[in-house]
Amino acid sequence: MNPIEKARIQDVPQMHRLINSFADKGEMLARSLSEIYENIRDFFVVRQGERVIACAALHVSWSDLAEIRSVAVADDSQQQGIGDKLVQACLKEASELGIPTVFCFTYQPAFFKRHKFVDIDKMELPRKVWTDCLRCPKFPDCDEVALICHLEVGV
Ligand SMILES: CC(C)(COP(=O)(O)OP(=O)(O)OC[C@H]1O[C@@H](n2cnc3c(N)ncnc32)[C@H](O)[C@@H]1OP(=O)(O)O)[C@@H](O)C(=O)NCCC(=O)NCCS
Repeated sequence: MNPIEKARIQDVPQMHRLINSFADKGEMLARSLSEIYENIRDFFVVRQGERVIACAALHVSWSDLAEIRSVAVADDSQQQGIGDKLVQACLKEASELGIPTVFCFTYQPAFFKRHKFVDIDKMELPRKVWTDCLRCPKFPDCDEVALICHLEVGV
């Protein structure tokens, strides 16, 4: 499998197309170009030559909390373990940063539950996470499932 790498600025247009190809089908939240540029350091990608075939982001919310966002694997590259590896990379980064809790909002809870994510009531997440929700076109009628994963962090 091609390696998981940190995203570079020239990857952004392809990441934007990849994420929004799924968002257009209602499978995940859309991200604007400016959001991706501003948060470029959050993103991992998998490349095949010059092509970005997958991406995922770890976004730090607070001292003890981060979010996995925008996990997207191109249709022709799915079912090869890439999604799993991206989630593992995000969780490893959270652990290395010393962040013990990672959450996500998703329409694919079964995929994340493979990585020890468990259901959580959205209202139990700190108010801080709602800052981003305010910008979501679905707010306040969020139909995604909230999940949370507790990590072992280095001592
Ligand atoms: C969900 C998604 C990221 C999975 O990526 P992927 O690279 O195909 O996943 P993997 O190949 O790593 O799958 C690993 C395992 O998870 C399983 N799996 C994949 N998608 C799944 C899903 N939606 N629900 C449950 N299990 C899933 C696979 O069958 C595989 O199981 P196996 O090891 O027993 O065969 C990908 O289908 C995708 O990009 N979907 C569109 C966008 C999206 O929904 N993103 C996630 C929410 S933000």
